[in-house]
Amino acid sequence: MRVLGIETSCDETGVAVYDSELGLTAHALHSQVELHADWGGVVPELASRDHVMRLVPLVERVVGTDPDVDAVAYTAGPGLVGALMTGAAFARSLAWGWDVPAVPIHHMEGHLLAPMLEENPPDFPFVALLVSGGHTMLVDVTALGQYRVLGETRDDAVGEAFDKTARLLGLGYPGGPEVAALAARGRSGAIDFPRPMTDRPGLDFSFSGLKTAVLRAVQNDDSVAPADIARGFEDAVVDTLSVKCRRAIAATGHELLIVAGGVSANTRLRQRLQKDAGKHGFGVRFPPAEFCTDNGAMIAYAGWRRLAAGLADTEAPLQVRARWPLEELNVEGRHE
Ligand code: KG4
Ligand code: ZN
Repeated sequence: MRVLGIETSCDETGVAVYDSELGLTAHALHSQVELHADWGGVVPELASRDHVMRLVPLVERVVGTDPDVDAVAYTAGPGLVGALMTGAAFARSLAWGWDVPAVPIHHMEGHLLAPMLEENPPDFPFVALLVSGGHTMLVDVTALGQYRVLGETRDDAVGEAFDKTARLLGLGYPGGPEVAALAARGRSGAIDFPRPMTDRPGLDFSFSGLKTAVLRAVQNDDSVAPADIARGFEDAVVDTLSVKCRRAIAATGHELLIVAGGVSANTRLRQRLQKDAGKHGFGVRFPPAEFCTDNGAMIAYAGWRRLAAGLADTEAPLQVRARWPLEELNVEGRHE
């Protein structure tokens, strides 16, 4: 079975084909980073218009003129409504024209399955740390479509904290890679930022206080180099995520941690969690580097997994959701 996947939830147009026999056979991505750079963040209307222009050429590049495709999966939420709608309407039109099912996919489910695009894919059950521009959560994943949110952010997402810190330091958008690059030249411990909510039990996160601490450091302390601030910020984030992941592993008894979403591309986060895993006896897996941030491959893969498991909502109306709690995907009665 060959599934075409289409991702348009934010500022990346992603298109890919996942083949149940051959794996990922083609993928293409157009990033809108340059389009939004002057505004310091994603402008929703510009994002939607750009998706509309990119979708046809990207699909042509990926499937050619002879689309041998058995289903079309698309991101139905969460994300920017206009951007989501461009992909949903396009995907469903293709599916209708080709007379194949259309499969709506939850963007975060796409992220959390992305590590399975690696060779020797990990399997359920596991704890998933989902860290992107819009979400920060720890999820107990026992099977496809069986998700229990163990903790999530009460305010900013980690990626958002990276992006805001980048802006405070005068760096570009998206901020994650830029802050990480600057941090690599900074000194650990030159400035100490809080490790929010690690001093009390629980698995929720809060990153807005950290952002405020960065703001204060930038405004008040001329003696601290921007690279040291970036390093202090990254250290605080990595420490905080490390503490919560270890707690989630202990609480669930699972032996595998999966890390996904844009921030899972962060090298120092990967190194720390790998070290934790070795020390505490659990496994850790990440998506292939190019599939950490938004892409079509994870949506094609999730579409195939849902079809294969008989869990594809092929009768869904043409509807997208800006907000869509992950736990709403849970299939009732499937709790083991
Ligand atoms: O998953 P994603 O592409 O889009 C959303 O679904 O939000 O995540 C984008 C986020 C941005 O906030 C970006 O700054 C962050 O991921 N990011 C990183 C890195 N690469 C991307 N954060 C830290 N370190 C990185 N290397
Ligand atoms: Zn994403």
